[in-house]
Amino acid sequence: STPTAWSNADVYLADLLVGHDPELDAALAAQREAGLPEIEVAPVGGKLLNLLARISGARRVLEIGTLGGYSTIWLARAVGEGGRVVTIEAEADNAAVARASIDAAGVGDRVEIRIGRGADVLPTLVGGFDLVFIDADKESNTIYLDWAARLGHTGTVVVLDNIGREGEIVRTDSTDSKVNGTRDALRMLGEDPRFDATALQTVGVKGWDGVALAVIV
Ligand code: DHB
Ligand code: MG
Repeated sequence: STPTAWSNADVYLADLLVGHDPELDAALAAQREAGLPEIEVAPVGGKLLNLLARISGARRVLEIGTLGGYSTIWLARAVGEGGRVVTIEAEADNAAVARASIDAAGVGDRVEIRIGRGADVLPTLVGGFDLVFIDADKESNTIYLDWAARLGHTGTVVVLDNIGREGEIVRTDSTDSKVNGTRDALRMLGEDPRFDATALQTVGVKGWDGVALAVIV
């Protein structure tokens, strides 16, 4: 088993189960064109977010970390016409790319992009979110989990991206701030009584990583 094999199998699964559509392909092309980092969720991950939102019946979704709007479009499609996605992006240039792609995907009316640092924007939001997707600076993960609990309700689904980090999460002596932010978040999901959680490691087009899933209890 090699990263190439993981990636080939991931592309195979995405072709079979996710497919391609012009809006999402255009969003990725716009993001590449603008030189944004190629760290958006994989196609199978975008579809997972879409399915989790639909399975849970989410109508109000909060995303922390918009990047170019690829995952935002997946979530916006899931909430339906009367639904709402609030997405927070620290970089105004990223938010402009996302705004254009989200509008071009036909879901602009249900997506509000809030530009600013999560720690600054989150205290200004009105709660009631049914699903929270955390995919921003890993150093702030525990702050974001705390706000997810405050702005959610019993039954709110919380999804935390990038919990695998090529297995580095076991390193108690790590000096990588992203690894330590992820370790702190995983400990919080285990210890904080507001959450009941699990986590799955993933391999695929993004290498070896993973996703944590939690429900607010
Ligand atoms: C990084 C961030 C992400 O959200 C991701 O999915 C992959 C990598 C990063 O900051 O390295
Ligand atoms: Mg991510």
